Amino acid sequence: MIKRILVTGKFGQLGQSMQKLAQEYPQFDFQFVGRDELDLSQPELVKQKLSHYQFDALINCAAYTAVDKAETEQELADAINHHSVGQLAQVAKDNNALLIHISTDYVFDGQNYKPYQTSDAVKPVNTYGDSKLKGEQAIHTASPSALIIRTSWVYSEFGHNFVKTMLKLGQEREQLNIVADQVGSPTYATDLAVAILEALCCISNQPEEGDSVKIYHFSNEGICSWYDFAKAIFELKEIDCAVNPIGTQDYPAPAKRPHYSVMDKTNIKQAFGISIPYWKDSLAVCLKGLEKQHAK
Ligand SMILES: NC(=O)c1ccc[n+]([C@@H]2O[C@H](COP(=O)([O-])OP(=O)(O)OC[C@H]3O[C@@H](n4cnc5c(N)ncnc54)[C@H](OP(=O)(O)O)[C@@H]3O)[C@@H](O)[C@H]2O)c1
Repeated sequence: MIKRILVTGKFGQLGQSMQKLAQEYPQFDFQFVGRDELDLSQPELVKQKLSHYQFDALINCAAYTAVDKAETEQELADAINHHSVGQLAQVAKDNNALLIHISTDYVFDGQNYKPYQTSDAVKPVNTYGDSKLKGEQAIHTASPSALIIRTSWVYSEFGHNFVKTMLKLGQEREQLNIVADQVGSPTYATDLAVAILEALCCISNQPEEGDSVKIYHFSNEGICSWYDFAKAIFELKEIDCAVNPIGTQDYPAPAKRPHYSVMDKTNIKQAFGISIPYWKDSLAVCLKGLEKQHAK
């Protein structure tokens, strides 16, 4: 049985969303750790730091997520997203615990014309994506019973994200130029947290030796560009800010981005019996959550 759950990245978007939901799953005992308790930039210390905890499942919500900065901080991104992930997987295996690791749509090159299957070829186009892919590969080597959930375009009431940036800029400016030729699916971190917890409810037994790593894709339902996403935020919030569609070439950034990062979610829905909300519906929920936060 899975009872004790250790969650890393407690101050991140997903980590905080998991904390928000924890009390709705009283069958589990949660422990949340942040960088102070477990610094993933030091892979050589991961095993020792984790020896202070007892857990049946380890959910890794921590990551180096600064996509552009990763181009100049390759070693750090690699330590956190690759080498430490390998250590987490090894410790999980040694403890006979289930590892649930979060990965990214950026493992794909974005050249597809239809949603990516979990079995599609991977080929990252930037350093961040490369470090996350190496993390996935380290899990395959160390912990064959692990689960990897790839997600995309994460936003929430917490931390920094596209929704909060648009809300700020929309108040300050009369118009904004937003990239319209990168297409994907936004993910409300609360919906992802629910999916993870529902998956845990389904997997009641300890991982079995000899299993192979299972990869799932999760985002909200529907497809949009960053331009569509920004328009929806302003429409729902009735913010009077014009949005102009621009091409990727007009918004130069250090890291290359995939043009198409929509992922097929069939297997996670079937495996754990979950239904996934449409992206605009979840965006409305998050915007309401932000309103409540500000009203406090
Ligand atoms: N955000 C996205 O759009 C997106 C898209 C696809 C996939 N993902 C994946 O989804 C997962 C969750 O992302 P998120 O949006 O919740 O990320 P986030 O908000 O950036 O949170 C990342 C967390 O990792 C922690 N962290 C960073 N460096 C660390 C270190 N050296 N040691 C320990 N902890 C460290 C951060 O700690 P501090 O709070 O102390 O900085 C933070 O709590 C990640 O695996 C990410 O790669 C995210």
